[in-house]
Amino acid sequence: MINIADLRRLAQRRLPKLVFDYLDGAAEAEVTLRENCRAFEEVTFRPRQAVVVRELNLRTKILGVELAFPGLLAPIGYSRMIHPEGELAAARAAGEFGTTFILSTISGHKLEKVQEVSRGPLWYQLYLVGGQAVAEAAIERIKAAGYTGLVITVDTAVAGMRERDPRNGMKQLLSGSLLKKLPYVSQVLSHPGWLYAHWRDGGMPKLENIVVPGQGPLPLIDVSAALADSAVEWKDFAWIRKAWSGPLIVKGVLTGDDARRSIDEGASAVVVSNHGGRQLDGVSATLRALPEVVAAASQQAEVLMDGGIRRGADIVKALCLGARGVLIGRAYGYGLGAAGYPGVVRAMTILREDVERTMRLLGCASMEQLDSSFVNVPGAWR
Ligand SMILES: Cc1cc2nc3c(=O)[nH]c(=O)nc-3n(C[C@H](O)[C@H](O)[C@H](O)COP(=O)(O)O)c2cc1C
Repeated sequence: MINIADLRRLAQRRLPKLVFDYLDGAAEAEVTLRENCRAFEEVTFRPRQAVVVRELNLRTKILGVELAFPGLLAPIGYSRMIHPEGELAAARAAGEFGTTFILSTISGHKLEKVQEVSRGPLWYQLYLVGGQAVAEAAIERIKAAGYTGLVITVDTAVAGMRERDPRNGMKQLLSGSLLKKLPYVSQVLSHPGWLYAHWRDGGMPKLENIVVPGQGPLPLIDVSAALADSAVEWKDFAWIRKAWSGPLIVKGVLTGDDARRSIDEGASAVVVSNHGGRQLDGVSATLRALPEVVAAASQQAEVLMDGGIRRGADIVKALCLGARGVLIGRAYGYGLGAAGYPGVVRAMTILREDVERTMRLLGCASMEQLDSSFVNVPGAWR
């Protein structure tokens, strides 16, 4: 496994088609997914030659907490479907690499258990599935468990149209009758390793962190159903702010205006994100949206970005364009699908070694020294 594309291929072999496509796919024509990756290719480096970096420092400070690596692990819903270890594997690996893991609301392991296995900082990404009271109860739980950041994802007014999912019968396989499942079961039966692991794990996991009063954890439901009633509005920030006084991070910002609005609503950080191209197809690549948001945030909030990061060089480019750190999504998801915990560790090792090598080849000794003088951006971006 030399690069993330190798892990992607292994995940494709090991996972049933519907699970791989859920991870790999994006909305509609997947234009934004491709653009997210392509934008990194358009930015080229301007190295400082004949410089030997003797002491390389990959540390970065995010919301006052020092991280050993500037790549945080993004929230990935249904991780326990990708591998039984799911969020536990990702949280453990993040801790090993001295970085933050962000737990999705749509998670199969209890947030307290995730906390127990992690040695690093944890943030919780909140969707309003189940409504305000359910969300407030989750916020109480993360406070008690010691999570240090609350992430509000603002790009999911409705679920994006991820065309691969209905084609693969995602809804039928998750919640349909046996008869409705039948046309789609062959893709699962052809992956006995995955099937056996999930049978041993107890079958379909519940959404352990969405606890409906009187009913317990929500059963695993289709993603569009999960997101249908969970849209957040700016007015919700008033009660969210009351329930959570710690650092608030707004994820899914693509314009300077929304960055300023997030700051007005109390955000300490914003994440430039288009949900990995899974929501509104046709929005610009996040790397391209980054400079506008950095300018608008003008030091009042920290700016992170995600989308399309498949190599350490991509992380370095994002930092050159003003991000303080990045979120890694599919890159670790492929590792999880390929091999569980060791797969996530392999993905993170690849990315960290990439960043180290890139920094040495650039002649730059620390993350904070990275700036736009290390890159060329296309003229049309200005
Ligand atoms: C399978 C999958 C599930 C995701 N689930 C969530 C989620 O539950 N909440 C959320 O805020 N973002 C979610 N995202 C978006 C990621 O947090 C992140 O923004 C995106 O993956 C970054 O793009 P990349 O995959 O190209 O790195 C998900 C992404 C993927 C690939």
